[in-house]
Amino acid sequence: MKINDKMATLVNAQINEELHAAYLYLAMSFQMQDEGYDGFAHWFLQQYHEEIEHALEIAHYLQLRSGKPQLTGVAEMPQHFGKPIELFEAAYKHECHVTELIHNIYKEALEANDYATSSFFKRYIDEQVEEEDTVLGIIDQLRMASDKGLYLVNAKLAQR
Ligand SMILES: [Fe+2]
Repeated sequence: MKINDKMATLVNAQINEELHAAYLYLAMSFQMQDEGYDGFAHWFLQQYHEEIEHALEIAHYLQLRSGKPQLTGVAEMPQHFGKPIELFEAAYKHECHVTELIHNIYKEALEANDYATSSFFKRYIDEQVEEEDTVLGIIDQLRMASDKGLYLVNAKLAQR
């Protein structure tokens, strides 16, 4: 069954949100690389790849339902986000924002009796729980770490 226009608009917006998140993490990766934090740079680059994957998966779903993905402009990113812990705090805040968007799609899908869309987004709801927990875990480690500890957390994240 073809997806309705309202749901198609919401799903399309999510594709662009995922690309926006990818861009944000790529900018963060560049900053970390520039400052010599190879591990943090690697971690954010992995996040970038994951977000691109999400965008492609959601676009694929939209096409399966006869919707047309439409790419909107991607916002310009800052070159500097602060100290490493501030990057992870910003990442956490962004993940919480994405969680809200996904919850909204799920709610709207249920209200529209679009069970295919609610079913598709169910795994993103679960994934956001993991994402938020992972980033919070890193923030905890960075809070506990002194400057010497920062080096260790950076080395650990290189192994992701
Ligand atoms: Fe995502």
